[in-house]
Amino acid sequence: MTRFSQLAIAAMSLLGTVWFASVPASAVGPEMVTLPDGSKTQKGAKDENGKWMTPDGEPTYRVKPDGILDWYAYSGFRRYHSECHVCHGPEGEGSTYAPALKDSLKTLSYGDFIGVVASGRVRHLPGGQESVMPALGDNKNVMCYVDDIYIYLKARSDGAVGRGRPVGRDEKPEAAKEYDKACFGG
Ligand code: HEC
Repeated sequence: MTRFSQLAIAAMSLLGTVWFASVPASAVGPEMVTLPDGSKTQKGAKDENGKWMTPDGEPTYRVKPDGILDWYAYSGFRRYHSECHVCHGPEGEGSTYAPALKDSLKTLSYGDFIGVVASGRVRHLPGGQESVMPALGDNKNVMCYVDDIYIYLKARSDGAVGRGRPVGRDEKPEAAKEYDKACFGG
Protein backbone atom coordinates (compact mmCIF):
# COMPACT_ATOMS: atom_id res chain seq x y z
CA MET A 1 0.00 0.00 0.00
CA THR A 2 1.28 3.43 -0.77
CA ARG A 3 2.10 5.93 1.88
CA PHE A 4 -0.71 8.12 0.63
CA SER A 5 -3.44 5.55 0.98
CA GLN A 6 -2.28 4.54 4.44
CA LEU A 7 -2.46 8.12 5.54
CA ALA A 8 -5.78 8.69 3.87
CA ILE A 9 -7.19 5.69 5.69
CA ALA A 10 -5.69 6.89 8.95
CA ALA A 11 -7.27 10.28 8.41
CA MET A 12 -10.63 8.70 7.60
CA SER A 13 -10.68 6.41 10.59
CA LEU A 14 -9.58 9.31 12.76
CA LEU A 15 -12.54 11.32 11.62
CA GLY A 16 -14.83 8.31 11.72
CA THR A 17 -16.44 9.16 8.39
CA VAL A 18 -15.86 8.73 4.70
CA TRP A 19 -16.15 12.42 3.88
CA PHE A 20 -12.49 12.43 2.99
CA ALA A 21 -13.21 10.20 0.01
CA SER A 22 -16.33 12.11 -0.96
CA VAL A 23 -14.72 15.52 -1.21
CA PRO A 24 -15.55 16.76 -4.70
CA ALA A 25 -12.55 17.03 -6.97
CA SER A 26 -14.08 20.20 -8.39
CA ALA A 27 -12.13 23.28 -8.01
CA VAL A 28 -12.13 26.36 -6.10
CA GLY A 29 -15.35 27.51 -4.51
CA PRO A 30 -17.57 30.31 -5.71
CA GLU A 31 -16.77 33.95 -5.16
CA MET A 32 -17.35 36.11 -2.10
CA VAL A 33 -20.67 37.94 -1.79
CA THR A 34 -22.14 40.47 0.63
CA LEU A 35 -25.40 39.37 2.26
CA PRO A 36 -28.32 41.79 2.90
CA ASP A 37 -27.15 42.29 6.51
CA GLY A 38 -23.72 43.36 5.24
CA SER A 39 -21.87 40.18 6.21
CA LYS A 40 -19.56 38.43 3.78
CA THR A 41 -19.54 34.80 2.73
CA GLN A 42 -19.29 32.76 -0.48
CA LYS A 43 -22.00 32.87 -3.12
CA GLY A 44 -24.96 30.67 -2.28
CA ALA A 45 -23.63 29.73 1.16
CA LYS A 46 -26.17 28.81 3.84
CA ASP A 47 -26.02 28.61 7.61
CA GLU A 48 -26.32 25.08 8.95
CA ASN A 49 -26.49 25.61 12.72
CA GLY A 50 -23.68 28.14 12.83
CA LYS A 51 -21.57 26.45 10.14
CA TRP A 52 -21.69 28.08 6.73
CA MET A 53 -21.71 25.72 3.75
CA THR A 54 -21.42 26.38 0.03
CA PRO A 55 -23.88 24.77 -2.40
CA ASP A 56 -21.07 22.27 -3.18
CA GLY A 57 -21.11 21.14 0.45
CA GLU A 58 -17.81 22.79 1.33
CA PRO A 59 -17.37 24.68 4.58
CA THR A 60 -16.99 28.44 4.37
CA TYR A 61 -16.89 31.62 6.45
CA ARG A 62 -19.33 34.31 7.45
CA VAL A 63 -17.87 37.65 8.50
CA LYS A 64 -20.26 40.24 9.93
CA PRO A 65 -19.91 43.91 8.95
CA ASP A 66 -18.28 44.69 12.32
CA GLY A 67 -15.66 41.99 11.69
CA ILE A 68 -17.17 39.34 14.00
CA LEU A 69 -16.31 35.88 12.65
CA ASP A 70 -18.45 32.77 12.72
CA TRP A 71 -17.21 30.28 15.31
CA TYR A 72 -15.43 28.00 12.81
CA ALA A 73 -13.51 30.78 11.08
CA TYR A 74 -12.36 32.02 14.48
CA SER A 75 -11.40 28.50 15.55
CA GLY A 76 -9.45 28.22 12.29
CA PHE A 77 -7.58 31.44 13.11
CA ARG A 78 -6.51 29.94 16.45
CA ARG A 79 -5.64 26.50 15.08
CA TYR A 80 -3.74 27.94 12.15
CA HIS A 81 -1.61 29.97 14.51
CA SER A 82 -0.85 27.01 16.75
CA GLU A 83 -0.18 24.42 14.01
CA CYS A 84 0.82 26.13 10.75
CA HIS A 85 2.08 29.62 11.54
CA VAL A 86 5.59 28.42 12.44
CA CYS A 87 6.25 27.52 8.79
CA HIS A 88 3.59 29.38 6.78
CA GLY A 89 3.90 32.74 8.53
CA PRO A 90 1.28 34.79 10.39
CA GLU A 91 -2.24 35.00 8.93
CA GLY A 92 -1.39 32.81 5.94
CA GLU A 93 1.03 35.44 4.62
CA GLY A 94 3.81 32.94 3.89
CA SER A 95 7.48 32.86 4.86
CA THR A 96 10.78 32.30 3.14
CA TYR A 97 10.28 28.64 4.07
CA ALA A 98 6.69 27.83 3.07
CA PRO A 99 4.09 29.31 0.70
CA ALA A 100 1.45 31.93 1.54
CA LEU A 101 -1.67 29.82 2.03
CA LYS A 102 -3.90 32.85 1.54
CA ASP A 103 -2.61 32.83 -2.05
CA SER A 104 -2.64 29.03 -2.41
CA LEU A 105 -6.37 28.97 -1.69
CA LYS A 106 -7.09 31.15 -4.70
CA THR A 107 -6.46 28.05 -6.84
CA LEU A 108 -6.18 25.07 -4.48
CA SER A 109 -9.51 23.23 -4.09
CA TYR A 110 -10.92 22.17 -0.73
CA GLY A 111 -10.25 18.51 -1.55
CA ASP A 112 -6.66 19.16 -2.54
CA PHE A 113 -6.10 21.27 0.57
CA ILE A 114 -7.26 18.41 2.82
CA GLY A 115 -5.12 15.97 0.83
CA VAL A 116 -1.91 17.98 1.18
CA VAL A 117 -2.45 18.56 4.90
CA ALA A 118 -3.18 14.89 5.60
CA SER A 119 -0.57 13.34 3.32
CA GLY A 120 2.10 16.03 3.10
CA ARG A 121 4.16 16.81 0.05
CA VAL A 122 7.81 16.70 -0.91
CA ARG A 123 9.20 18.83 -3.71
CA HIS A 124 12.72 18.23 -4.95
CA LEU A 125 14.67 21.41 -5.50
CA PRO A 126 17.69 21.94 -7.71
CA GLY A 127 20.88 21.04 -5.86
CA GLY A 128 19.39 18.02 -4.09
CA GLN A 129 17.43 19.92 -1.44
CA GLU A 130 13.82 19.19 -0.58
CA SER A 131 10.87 21.38 0.30
CA VAL A 132 8.77 19.34 2.74
CA MET A 133 5.20 19.80 3.87
CA PRO A 134 4.86 17.29 6.71
CA ALA A 135 2.01 14.75 6.64
CA LEU A 136 -0.30 15.76 9.49
CA GLY A 137 -3.03 13.14 8.96
CA ASP A 138 -2.43 11.49 12.33
CA ASN A 139 -2.38 14.75 14.30
CA LYS A 140 -5.81 15.26 15.85
CA ASN A 141 -5.07 18.87 16.74
CA VAL A 142 -4.82 19.44 13.01
CA MET A 143 -7.25 16.95 11.45
CA CYS A 144 -10.13 17.59 13.87
CA TYR A 145 -9.94 21.26 12.85
CA VAL A 146 -8.78 21.03 9.26
CA ASP A 147 -12.13 22.43 8.06
CA ASP A 148 -11.82 25.38 10.46
CA ILE A 149 -8.30 26.13 9.20
CA TYR A 150 -9.54 25.92 5.62
CA ILE A 151 -12.44 28.29 6.43
CA TYR A 152 -10.14 30.87 8.02
CA LEU A 153 -7.64 30.72 5.14
CA LYS A 154 -10.45 30.93 2.58
CA ALA A 155 -11.69 34.10 4.27
CA ARG A 156 -8.13 35.48 4.18
CA SER A 157 -7.79 34.45 0.55
CA ASP A 158 -11.07 36.15 -0.45
CA GLY A 159 -10.17 39.30 1.47
CA ALA A 160 -13.14 38.89 3.84
CA VAL A 161 -10.79 38.92 6.87
CA GLY A 162 -7.81 41.19 7.28
CA ARG A 163 -4.58 40.61 9.12
CA GLY A 164 -4.31 40.54 12.90
CA ARG A 165 -6.46 39.10 15.65
CA PRO A 166 -10.19 38.98 14.82
CA VAL A 167 -12.28 41.51 16.75
CA GLY A 168 -14.65 38.81 17.96
CA ARG A 169 -16.57 35.63 17.23
CA ASP A 170 -19.99 34.06 17.46
CA GLU A 171 -20.86 31.75 20.36
CA LYS A 172 -19.61 28.19 19.99
CA PRO A 173 -22.52 26.20 18.50
CA GLU A 174 -23.75 23.07 20.33
CA ALA A 175 -22.88 21.09 17.20
CA ALA A 176 -19.23 22.18 17.54
CA LYS A 177 -19.13 21.01 21.17
CA GLU A 178 -20.53 17.62 20.19
CA TYR A 179 -18.07 17.39 17.32
CA ASP A 180 -15.08 18.07 19.60
CA LYS A 181 -16.12 15.24 21.90
CA ALA A 182 -16.64 12.86 18.99
CA CYS A 183 -13.40 13.74 17.22
CA PHE A 184 -11.22 13.45 20.30
CA GLY A 185 -12.96 10.27 21.38
CA GLY A 186 -14.97 11.65 24.31
C1 HEC B 1 7.37 22.17 9.27
C2 HEC B 1 6.87 23.22 8.41
C3 HEC B 1 5.41 23.18 8.00
C4 HEC B 1 4.29 23.11 8.83
C5 HEC B 1 4.24 22.99 10.35
C6 HEC B 1 3.16 23.18 7.95
N1 HEC B 1 3.56 23.28 6.65
FE1 HEC B 1 2.36 23.34 5.00
N2 HEC B 1 3.98 23.37 3.78
C7 HEC B 1 5.29 23.45 4.21
C8 HEC B 1 6.14 23.57 3.05
C9 HEC B 1 7.67 23.72 3.07
C10 HEC B 1 5.31 23.55 1.91
C11 HEC B 1 5.72 23.61 0.44
C12 HEC B 1 5.92 22.19 -0.07
C13 HEC B 1 6.33 22.21 -1.53
O1 HEC B 1 7.34 22.86 -1.83
O2 HEC B 1 5.62 21.61 -2.32
C14 HEC B 1 3.96 23.42 2.41
C15 HEC B 1 2.85 23.36 1.60
C16 HEC B 1 1.55 23.38 2.06
C17 HEC B 1 0.37 23.41 1.22
C18 HEC B 1 0.36 23.44 -0.30
C19 HEC B 1 0.40 24.89 -0.73
C20 HEC B 1 0.34 25.09 -2.21
O3 HEC B 1 0.45 26.26 -2.64
O4 HEC B 1 0.21 24.13 -2.97
C21 HEC B 1 -0.71 23.45 2.05
C22 HEC B 1 -2.18 23.50 1.65
C23 HEC B 1 -0.21 23.46 3.40
N3 HEC B 1 1.15 23.40 3.38
C24 HEC B 1 -1.03 23.54 4.51
C25 HEC B 1 -0.55 23.52 5.83
C26 HEC B 1 -1.41 23.65 6.98
C27 HEC B 1 -2.92 23.85 6.94
C28 HEC B 1 -0.61 23.53 8.08
C29 HEC B 1 -1.02 23.52 9.54
C30 HEC B 1 -2.05 22.57 9.91
C31 HEC B 1 0.75 23.36 7.59
N4 HEC B 1 0.74 23.37 6.22
C32 HEC B 1 1.86 23.19 8.40
C33 HEC B 1 5.73 23.42 5.50
C34 HEC B 1 4.94 23.30 6.63
